[in-house]
Amino acid sequence: MYEFKDGLDHAQYLDSKDPLGAFRKRFYLREDTVYLCGNSLGLASKDAENSLFNVLDEWKYEGVQLWSQNNNKFLKYSAYLAKLMAPLVGADAKEIALSGSTTVSIHQCISTFYKPREDRYKILVDDVNFSSDRYAVDSQVRLKGYDPAEAVKVVKCRGRFMSEDDVISAMTPEVALVLLPVVYYRSAQILDVKRVTDAAKSRGIFIGWDMCHAAGVIDFDLRYLDVDFAVWCTYKYLNGGPGAPSALYINKKHFHLTPGMCGWFGNRVETQFKLNQEFDHKKDANGWQIGTPHLLSMGPLEGSLKMFLEAGMTNVRLKSLKITAYLMYLSDLRLSYYGFDIGNPREDDRRGGHVCLRHREAYRISIALKNMGVVQDFRPPNVIRITPAALYTSYEEVYRVVEMILLIVKNETYKSISTRRSVVV
Ligand SMILES: Cc1ncc(COP(=O)(O)O)c(C=O)c1O
Repeated sequence: MYEFKDGLDHAQYLDSKDPLGAFRKRFYLREDTVYLCGNSLGLASKDAENSLFNVLDEWKYEGVQLWSQNNNKFLKYSAYLAKLMAPLVGADAKEIALSGSTTVSIHQCISTFYKPREDRYKILVDDVNFSSDRYAVDSQVRLKGYDPAEAVKVVKCRGRFMSEDDVISAMTPEVALVLLPVVYYRSAQILDVKRVTDAAKSRGIFIGWDMCHAAGVIDFDLRYLDVDFAVWCTYKYLNGGPGAPSALYINKKHFHLTPGMCGWFGNRVETQFKLNQEFDHKKDANGWQIGTPHLLSMGPLEGSLKMFLEAGMTNVRLKSLKITAYLMYLSDLRLSYYGFDIGNPREDDRRGGHVCLRHREAYRISIALKNMGVVQDFRPPNVIRITPAALYTSYEEVYRVVEMILLIVKNETYKSISTRRSVVV
């Protein structure tokens, strides 16, 4: 499907034909660095910086009056940002709130949807999702008086990838709720969200999805998927900055539910400042907000989301697929001889935005690469995650990084690096 050739001139040719190539100059890229870690923290852009400065200016000039400026823009900043987010995930703006961290949003959603009964009290998860999701699930189960060892049902990943069949066969009558990732953070596998969601719904089970590694890299249609709830962070592919708020999606058919965790920003704006003792739930996703919006963490997201709208999510996905395919092509061609293989699914519809280069010395090679100015990360036991980002990575950078990896393995420079891992890699 993709036709690639080896050589720097071909990389430069691909860049010259890249319809998103012009976005690159709007990012803060360092001359001495190739940044391939947007699956962890996306890069800062001038657009994000400007929208953050705008929030700061309002605070400097208006003080507390900033909340009511521009038709209460900042009081309703979550709803404002939701309008920008909605087209990227195929949802209605009212179904999205921007608030808290992903983990807090998971707590919020589970505490809303998890209503255990004697015969239906289990939460279904898998054993390769991101740790924080599991911690949240276990603690929500404990809060309801159950023992996670009994009430959390874990589907095991039996091979390299999670089997949808295994997930569906675990949806037994005592399961009340399912929480799964759309894209696995380690393997980049995309689950068949539609199939798994439909299976849950046909069994009367609520289902929610962690879209952290999907939002901003996969073009989504939440309306079509019709999931019950979803959460995702905005600091990875969406470049919202460290500490940017998470997004929480509540399917509009559930707006009547009372949030598990209520707070005054989930109250209707019309009565919020009456400060009544009774919660007057805003009947859309913004009714799932809890406290005062973190404006300084939300500011950069405004500029960044506008950039995604300008680029178009379909184009972002197309570029991501093509540039990751290019990396896999170069790896097959030039790195496989040195013990590398591809750890993610190869089919376009089954892989997210990062490439998993597997090698038995992945940790030390990852450090050696970092020492050469290539920012990527290592995930145990043997994966180097490399994320060429659609809006700011060039094909030439990918080509040069493969050259650097070759140097590291040919010269065995990684061998001088300790095998002891630091706390964050
Ligand atoms: C898949 C996934 N879920 C949840 C989280 C936790 O997100 P947060 O720190 O925003 O709570 C992460 C963080 O990287 C993640 O990758």
